[in-house]
Amino acid sequence: MAKKLFIETLGCAMNVRDSEHMIAELSKEEHYELTEHSHEADLIIINTCSVREKPVAKLFSEIGIFSKNKKPNTKIGVCGCTASHLGAEIIKRAPSVDFVLGARNVSKINQVLHTKHAVEVSTDYDESLYDFAEYRSNPLKAMVNISIGCDKQCTFCIVPATRGDEISIPSALIVREITKAAAQGAKEVMLLGQNVNNYGRRFSTTDGVCDFTQLLGKVSETEGLERIRFTSPHPLHMDDLFLETFASNPKICKQIHIPLQSGSTRLLKIMKRGYTKEWFLDRCRKVRLLCPEATISTDIIVGFPGESDEDFEETMEVLEEVRFEQMFSFKYSPRPLTPAADYPDQVDPMIAAERLTRLQTRHTQILDEIMDAQLGQEHYVYFDELKPYGRVAGRSDDGKLVFAEGSEELLGQIKKVRITKTSRGALDGIVLES
Ligand code: 5AD
Ligand code: SF4
Repeated sequence: MAKKLFIETLGCAMNVRDSEHMIAELSKEEHYELTEHSHEADLIIINTCSVREKPVAKLFSEIGIFSKNKKPNTKIGVCGCTASHLGAEIIKRAPSVDFVLGARNVSKINQVLHTKHAVEVSTDYDESLYDFAEYRSNPLKAMVNISIGCDKQCTFCIVPATRGDEISIPSALIVREITKAAAQGAKEVMLLGQNVNNYGRRFSTTDGVCDFTQLLGKVSETEGLERIRFTSPHPLHMDDLFLETFASNPKICKQIHIPLQSGSTRLLKIMKRGYTKEWFLDRCRKVRLLCPEATISTDIIVGFPGESDEDFEETMEVLEEVRFEQMFSFKYSPRPLTPAADYPDQVDPMIAAERLTRLQTRHTQILDEIMDAQLGQEHYVYFDELKPYGRVAGRSDDGKLVFAEGSEELLGQIKKVRITKTSRGALDGIVLES
């Protein structure tokens, strides 16, 4: 009988892909079936995120619950960024944990599984050439890593400490993986990296060297592939050529994530982001000019140490001008191993909370206006998910979630859809004959 695997994935898209890699590698040795119930699992994996404090704080109570309710011989593994960060301390604090596997050591999952209290968390480990076994939670939409680690030193961010230095995966390996996924039915690929448009700065081999814009060109030649997305790019590396390629290549989806973090040039400097408010706005204006149909999304942190009312107003100004369609906004969370955690001028959490509410309230109004204006519009939607009550869901080219009436036949198809109903999070439409 197949063993059962319960895997909880927190954090970003890279973690989602790391979980797929772990599932695939585990299946090389033993057949596993995924389960959503930890109490019936033979193996429990928590793939953690450490970017903010809250989920880290919850980790140990979660381990306690899992170990109390699990079957007697079930193993528990803690993986991902918090595993990289805390390492052996996790087993010291929670001896019921059987192994700890860092975000940069995913390929060693079968090794740690067989060694009691194994801890593999080296951030120097190089997986950029590792040929992972294959598992995709949705074969219609392939996630493909293009680099590992992050070379930036943003002063708020723990990721360089958990995922190590940046190494690009050779383009030939990337193209090979995408070709295979496309042959198996994926019309869409999501290229993944902590900083995708820094691609090409460092490789472990001399083969397949190119930059991100060139990589986009190579990927777009893949037969059967119709849509390319990528996350996350960095505003600093958005040169004109990249934006022109984004706008002119019909396979590149017209949705771009441009993480602002703060609208204050003064704070951006302390964050070590490497760009100014003006540069950020200039890049957004260029996107709008070259590609008026594109949607722009962002990440914003409020309450970074030293943030004054004036600094925050500058963030509000950028929101007013760019009108981000999606905005992921966070209260600054001091993280160990980061310089900003030791800055003396930490912002009162009440003030940070007020600012976050103001930012999110204004964004919600903007989003409602954007979505209301969608009524009657037409989009090409790639249907990739079956929903209850005879419905299917997919994304428009510019990243909007669209539902329509339909069944299996629509899955894997790109169809023209007219929007008949709008709401804040998603749109409803009818499939037009075409
Ligand atoms: N506090 C709050 N938000 C953070 N992020 C990264 N580090 C922190 C932190 N210490 C946010 C950034 C980043 C996103 C993935 O998480 O906005 O772009
Ligand atoms: Fe979380 Fe960042 Fe690690 Fe992704 S890379 S799991 S967002 S800490």
